[in-house]
Amino acid sequence: MAFPSFLFLLILLPLFFSNIPFSLSQSQLSPDYYRQFCPNLDNIIRDVVTTKQISNPTTAAGTLRLFFHDCMIGGCDASVLISSNSFNKAERDADINLSLPGDAFDVIVRAKTAVELSCPGIVSCADILALATRNAITMVGGPFYTVNLGRKDSLVSTQSSVEGHMPLANMTMDEIIKKFESKNFTVQELVALTGAHTLGFAHCKEFAYGLFRYSKTVPTDPAYNPKYAEALKKLCHNYEKNPAMSAFNDVMTPSKFDNLYYQNLEKGMGLLESDNALFQNPKTRPFVQLYAKNQTAFFNDFARAIEKLSLNGVKTGNQGEVRRKCDAFNSIHI
Ligand code: HEM
Ligand SMILES: *[C@@H]1O[C@H](CO)[C@@H](O)[C@H](O)[C@H]1NC(C)=O
Ligand SMILES: *[C@@H]1O[C@H](CO)[C@@H](O)[C@H](O)[C@H]1NC(C)=O
Ligand SMILES: *[C@@H]1O[C@H](CO)[C@@H](O)[C@H](O)[C@H]1NC(C)=O
Ligand SMILES: *[C@@H]1O[C@H](CO)[C@@H](O)[C@H](O)[C@H]1NC(C)=O
Repeated sequence: MAFPSFLFLLILLPLFFSNIPFSLSQSQLSPDYYRQFCPNLDNIIRDVVTTKQISNPTTAAGTLRLFFHDCMIGGCDASVLISSNSFNKAERDADINLSLPGDAFDVIVRAKTAVELSCPGIVSCADILALATRNAITMVGGPFYTVNLGRKDSLVSTQSSVEGHMPLANMTMDEIIKKFESKNFTVQELVALTGAHTLGFAHCKEFAYGLFRYSKTVPTDPAYNPKYAEALKKLCHNYEKNPAMSAFNDVMTPSKFDNLYYQNLEKGMGLLESDNALFQNPKTRPFVQLYAKNQTAFFNDFARAIEKLSLNGVKTGNQGEVRRKCDAFNSIHI
C-alpha cells in the first residue's frame, strides 16, 4: 500500500506548484489559438489600441509597463488587472504599483468589451493584454513579434505576492541582474528588455534621491551628465509637495520606440539610477553600447526577450479561467 500512495503523491505534487509545468504550458500556446472561435481578434484589439493611443499618447508606455508587471509577478495571467475588494488587497494595489497607469487598465477594459461583443466568453484577459502590448509597441515604431495565445486568467491576485519580484530603481545593478536571473533572463536580455524605457515617464520620487541625496558628501550621482542633472533638479525641486511631477524616460524621443534610450545612457542621460547603472556596470555596458550603435540588434533582441517574457508562468487548462470582466474573478474568491 505504501508504494502506490507514494506514487499518487508524486503525480499530484505538480498540481500544487502551478509555476512548475512551465514548458508544458508553453507548448500548448499557439498564435492560431483563437482562429476558429475569434478569428478577427487581432484586428479588434488593434483598433481599440489605436483609438486609445491617438486620444491618449501615454497608453503604449503604460500598457507595456503593465504587461511587464503582470508577467514578473506569478506569470502573464492578468493577475495585475484584478481590483481590490474588502476581502482581498489585489496585486495592483501593492505599494510597488507606483501608480500603474490608469490608461493602460482602461485600454484593456475597452479591448475586452470589444472582444466580448464579437466572441463572448472565449478570449482571456491575459491574452488581450499580451496582444495589446505587442500592438502598442508596433504602433509607436517598435518591432513586430509573434504572440503565442492560449493563456488562462489567474484565480488569485494578492498584494503580498508582489513583494520581492520587481526590480527597483534604487537597487544595485547586481541585485537587478539577480532579479532577472531568477526569472531566467540573461544579462543581455535584461538590457534589451529595459530598452522599454525608450517610452514613457517616471515620477520624480523614483529618481530624486540620485539628484538630491546621493551620499553624505555628494548630493548628486556623478553618473548624471551635469547639465541634465541641473535640469532635472529644477523640474523636481518641489516634488514632495507636487508628487505628479515627472520626466520622460527617454529625453530625446519620449514617445517613439527606438534606440535613443541607449545613446542617452552613454551620455549620462538616463533618468533612473538603474538606467545610468546599465552603462556604469561593466557587465551590462557592452550591451548598452551594442544597442546604441545598432537599432536592428536592439529590435531583434527586444522582440525575442519580450516573447520569452510573455510565456513566463503562463496558466493553461484548469489552472485558470477566461474572465468575463478583466478586473474580477468569475466567482467570488476571498
Ligand atoms: C531594470 C529594471 C527596471 C526598473 C528598476 C524599472 C523601474 C521603473 C520605474 C521606477 C518607472 C517609473 C514608474 C512611475 O514613476 O510611474 C518605470 C517606468 C516604465 N517601465 Fe520600467 N523598470 C525596469 C525595467 C523595465 C522593463 C523590463 C520594462 C518592460 C519590458 C519596463 C517598462 C517600463 C515602461 C514602459 C515605463 C513607463 C511607464 C509609463 O510611462 O506609464 N521597465 N520603470
Ligand atoms: C495603486 O494604483 C491605484 C491606481 O491604479 C491607486 O488607486 C492606488 O492607490 C495605488 N496603491 C498604492 C498603495 O499606491
Ligand atoms: C528603494 O525604493 C523603495 C520604493 O521604490 C523604498 O521602499 C525603499 O526603501 C528604497 N530602498 C532604499 C535602500 O533606499
Ligand atoms: C530559460 O531560458 C533558456 C534560454 O532562453 C530556455 O532555453 C529555457 O527553457 C528556460 N528555462 C526555463 C525553466 O524557463
Ligand atoms: C546590426 O545588427 C544586425 C542584427 O544583429 C546585424 O545583422 C548587422 O550586421 C548589424 N549592423 C552593423 C552595422 O553592425
